[in-house]
Amino acid sequence: MLMRTQVGIVGGGPSGQLLARLLGLEGIDVVVLEKRTPGYLRARVRAGLLEQGTVDLLTDAGVGARLARERLIHEGVQLAFDGRRHRIDLKGLTGKAVTIYGQAEVQKDLMDAHAAAGTRVIYEAEDVSLHGLSNDKPCLRFHTGGEGQEIACDFIAGCDGFHGVSRQAIPQEVIRIYERVYPFGWLGVLSDTTPVNHELIYASSERGFALCTMRSMVRSRYYLQVSAEEDAADWPDERFWGELKRRIPPDAAAALLTGPSIEKSVAQLRSFVAEPMRYGRLFLAGDAAHIVPPTGAKGLNLAAADVRFLAEALIAYYKSGRTDLMDGYSARCLQRVWKAQRFSWWMTNLTHRFPEASPFERRAQAAELAYLVSSEAAQTTLAENYVGLPIM
Ligand code: APR
Ligand code: PHB
Repeated sequence: MLMRTQVGIVGGGPSGQLLARLLGLEGIDVVVLEKRTPGYLRARVRAGLLEQGTVDLLTDAGVGARLARERLIHEGVQLAFDGRRHRIDLKGLTGKAVTIYGQAEVQKDLMDAHAAAGTRVIYEAEDVSLHGLSNDKPCLRFHTGGEGQEIACDFIAGCDGFHGVSRQAIPQEVIRIYERVYPFGWLGVLSDTTPVNHELIYASSERGFALCTMRSMVRSRYYLQVSAEEDAADWPDERFWGELKRRIPPDAAAALLTGPSIEKSVAQLRSFVAEPMRYGRLFLAGDAAHIVPPTGAKGLNLAAADVRFLAEALIAYYKSGRTDLMDGYSARCLQRVWKAQRFSWWMTNLTHRFPEASPFERRAQAAELAYLVSSEAAQTTLAENYVGLPIM
């Protein structure tokens, strides 16, 4: 069957579904093609920290009501090393706070809003492929229920994440890739226990990094730095809790409440940027164009900023025929992307144990942590980046 739409969106993760909302609210016709089932997307556990700019954008997109009721507002974070915790006063240093609200909840709110609005979101779309990018007649082909389909589009938004097909549709000679793969991953555990602390704890230790975060006051999320090849199956709950206690300061370890895990998975840490983020009538947004290590909590926030800029550009085109925002899209996103890349890479280097680090590098890392907690200027820089850079 042949269909038509204004903006064809590949990928129904947070980027694709948020873009579909912002465009749909302006009367722009969209179709979203997502290869997974709704149930899979609703259950997928991801990160959980939103910058205020992301909260504002979700609110503008009409999906801010449950977020406003259920979110936790954090005005500080803790940095732990040498058995002690140091609070970084985000609010005092920057005037801003951050929001804790799971990405799975953002995903559900977006899906529910689309279901209510009747947006064309096609789940279980198989073999999605992009065509006509170089002759200005873009179209998407795919299968549903074994049947071939085609959608003619004015533009295509590639929101299909790191493993998607959109980025691959850009010719090799046009795209440049910048990448760093870290020699470790994060093992994450979700459990229905009261969080060890009311604010996040980023803990650097001889045994490796650990992060204590949460989804609510009755649901905790903890992460341990592990080797990249680690299998979550080799980490029964007892082993996980035991190792976590060894990596956080003794007072936190004593206060830690443990319980059965309800999710456990390993994610490789990676820094990745594909440039440019536009090729003709294809625009990349979110994880399709860039990945940051989770240490800086920037992944979803960067995706939201791309989507904001892309929605602005497409709306300006449909409302007044302007093409300047589309032309500036890639450069505008990449400026922000590289700031977040620098911050995420620096936070990772500061807090993780690198297997190949020399004794000199280990001491320099310890000196950097000590400097950070002694310098208000250094903490202000960290806090400004952590709460989120202004929208420009
Ligand atoms: N066809 C259709 N859909 C696809 C295809 C494909 N070939 N390949 C991937 N997808 C879908 C995936 O199933 C997924 O639902 O695209 C979606 C991409 O979603 P995410 O990977 O979550 O990426 P994005 O929407 O950009 O989300 C922002 O930033 O750092 C992260 O944790 C953060 O995942 C969040 C992301
Ligand atoms: C999370 O809550 O999952 C989370 C929070 C902060 C991070 C990474 C993950 O830096």
